Amino acid sequence: MQNISIYQTAFLDYLEAYNTPKEPKNLYKPIHYILELGGKRLRPVLTLMTADIFGSDYKKALDAALSIEVFHNFSLLHDDIMDDAPLRRGQQTVHEKWDINTGILSGDAMLILAYQLFENYNPKTFQALAKLFSKTALEVCEGQQYDVDFETRDDVTIPEYLKMIEYKTAVLVGAAMKMGAIVAETSVDNQDSIYQFGRLLGIAFQLQDDYLDAFGDPETFGKQVGGDIIENKKTYLYLKALDFLSEKNKRQLEQLFTVNLDDNSDKIETVKQFFVDSGSAKATQDAIKDYTEQAFKVLEGLSISDDKKELLRQFGTGLMTRNV
Ligand code: IPE
Ligand code: IPE
Ligand code: MG
Ligand code: MG
Ligand code: MG
Repeated sequence: MQNISIYQTAFLDYLEAYNTPKEPKNLYKPIHYILELGGKRLRPVLTLMTADIFGSDYKKALDAALSIEVFHNFSLLHDDIMDDAPLRRGQQTVHEKWDINTGILSGDAMLILAYQLFENYNPKTFQALAKLFSKTALEVCEGQQYDVDFETRDDVTIPEYLKMIEYKTAVLVGAAMKMGAIVAETSVDNQDSIYQFGRLLGIAFQLQDDYLDAFGDPETFGKQVGGDIIENKKTYLYLKALDFLSEKNKRQLEQLFTVNLDDNSDKIETVKQFFVDSGSAKATQDAIKDYTEQAFKVLEGLSISDDKKELLRQFGTGLMTRNV
């Protein structure tokens, strides 16, 4: 078993060798830019770690890990267009630095590049990876559509929100881990359990992303703080606040989430105050803990050594306390 930094270093070396300049520049430069921009590299590390946990040389999972990271970054290019986001990892988003058409086409190319990486596996592994990938990628699209649909709906429920984040975010975390398990050729039971672990951790991860979007430190967060409030995103913070607030305050919050303003600073401050005062900020923190605990429960049934379970637990606990 390796230390997490070993997977990170191995992945970054592999990415650097892959991420070389190509022609036409206007297609490939944005791809190079977003892939080089950093990020936590959470998903590829999980792929490598999982392959290792199930007894494979983790290096065999490098192409699958790269595929997941390229897909993730593709989804960010298009997500930033859809969310009208100016900042990503502390830098300009691709559609701001270039333009929307560039963001669309470079994103499309990244989706193909992600698939192409599976060609480096034998036919049996290729088929299993491609099948999981297609299912997951389609679910991400479905989640993203729900996310956008919810912006203009005023009757979104918590179960609907949870399904939305499961699809847009959590299934990719599950798939990242399952890919490591597939490359390691472990049992189907193990593959399914580790997928469930990743899925539950992924739900906690998106809840935390929503929390940080409102309460993160603008100096370090790397994205526009309050972006979800500006875009009227129906997050857990928002939906729980509606549950907890008095009728009068509830109406005021709902009203604030029907407008698109030029200057959003007052809206952001008022909404954040509602999130804190209503108890929804606290409820979100509790939900993050709860989903992380649920993920840890899945580990109990997994036939791997205790120190491997401990490593996965450490990883999950680290995610809960992140501020980026
Ligand atoms: C951002 O993902 C998009 C979500 C699914 C919340 P990350 O928070 O993993 O982004 P990077 O790759 O570390 O920048
Ligand atoms: C992102 O959700 C999900 C995908 C990119 C598929 P968000 O819109 O919350 O992600 P950030 O906050 O922009 O990273
Ligand atoms: Mg976004
Ligand atoms: Mg989004
Ligand atoms: Mg977000």
